[in-house]
Amino acid sequence: MAFTRGMIGTMTSPLQTRVLPLIGPGKIGLLTSGGDAPGMNAAVRSATKVALARGHRVYGIRHGYKGLLDGQLVPMDHGDVDDIVRWGGTVLGSARELRFKEPAGKALAQDRVMEFGLDGVVVIGGDGSLTGARELSKLTTARGEPLRVMGIPASIDNDVGCTSLAIGVDTAVNTIVGAVDRIADTARAHDRTFIVEVMGRDCGYLAMVAAIASAADAVLYRESGRSHDEMLSHLEQTVRQAYRPGGKRSRAKRMVVILKAEGVTLSSARIKEHLDEALLKEIPTLETRVTVLGHLVRGGAPTAMDRLMAARLGNVAVIALENGRTAMMAAWRPPVGGEETMDKDVRLFDLNTVLTETAALRAATSPVAKKRVEMLQAVESIFAL
Ligand code: F6P
Repeated sequence: MAFTRGMIGTMTSPLQTRVLPLIGPGKIGLLTSGGDAPGMNAAVRSATKVALARGHRVYGIRHGYKGLLDGQLVPMDHGDVDDIVRWGGTVLGSARELRFKEPAGKALAQDRVMEFGLDGVVVIGGDGSLTGARELSKLTTARGEPLRVMGIPASIDNDVGCTSLAIGVDTAVNTIVGAVDRIADTARAHDRTFIVEVMGRDCGYLAMVAAIASAADAVLYRESGRSHDEMLSHLEQTVRQAYRPGGKRSRAKRMVVILKAEGVTLSSARIKEHLDEALLKEIPTLETRVTVLGHLVRGGAPTAMDRLMAARLGNVAVIALENGRTAMMAAWRPPVGGEETMDKDVRLFDLNTVLTETAALRAATSPVAKKRVEMLQAVESIFAL
């Protein structure tokens, strides 16, 4: 397909004027960085195949920014990405690299860009990776042009601004729901109360949506703004109602599943301790257990949704680079209308906007964070026993 300027839609920033010349056959590096996320491989596959099909040479950069600094770049061919959509993790490897934040690290990255003759880099990752991408875009190619850099959001936490979903989120939610279904079998068999803690760093998204989908009885997430005391008394009430015959229910439920987001600083152990202290006299048969799902939530084969989204973001990212865009991220967010786009669900945002929105999302001050809380509150009756 011939690509013409203007096929990629919405850009909402001062950087939108920064359009570099089209490149002919060039060299494009791909890196995955930060916490791995299921679907990263689908993005690597798509970016590789699209770039090769358009006549570019592709280098896989091993272990994110660390590999860039260490010169671990390997040429990629169709054969290197054949089957990889089926695997979780990232075939390129990942790392959290601090050296790149320092001037010496940036100078070394500049040397590597020259050494390997890179014209552009696609960075697949979350907050830290995209912050690095913005720094990368300040480097210069051997042709004397700014290095073209495109970000693709990938983080199970769904804490990247400007995108409604990041790669890995859908798989992580499905993994949590599957795990809670299994835990619920034991909870039901033994009349138990389970506190299930899920990843997400500062962001409660995974716990919130998984709680709805898995029919949990309560969910704790930082964005609710509830104090620890309020959370504890709410849980106490929830458990009491479940084990008390009568009440609002014709029969006791005798099992409770509570989802707790990692970002809630009240520990799961403390919640268990509180429930035991407060309720064991009243409900002598009460048995509480804690399960921390941890890194289990980050692995596994990506869902079709994650593969599809990653493939489409990878496609747009490469074409955008070729078309002279830089310091931007391909986001999964339908255009608002009237824009000419090459993918109806993908928009480009400059990295400054993305990183500002990301910070606000993580601080729970952004409109998106507020909407998520409203979404949960709107279905609050689902949690009532
Ligand atoms: O950002 C993804 C994530 O899995 C978070 O949910 C979690 O807080 C963090 O990474 C764990 O990081 P690490 O794997 O370095 O322990």
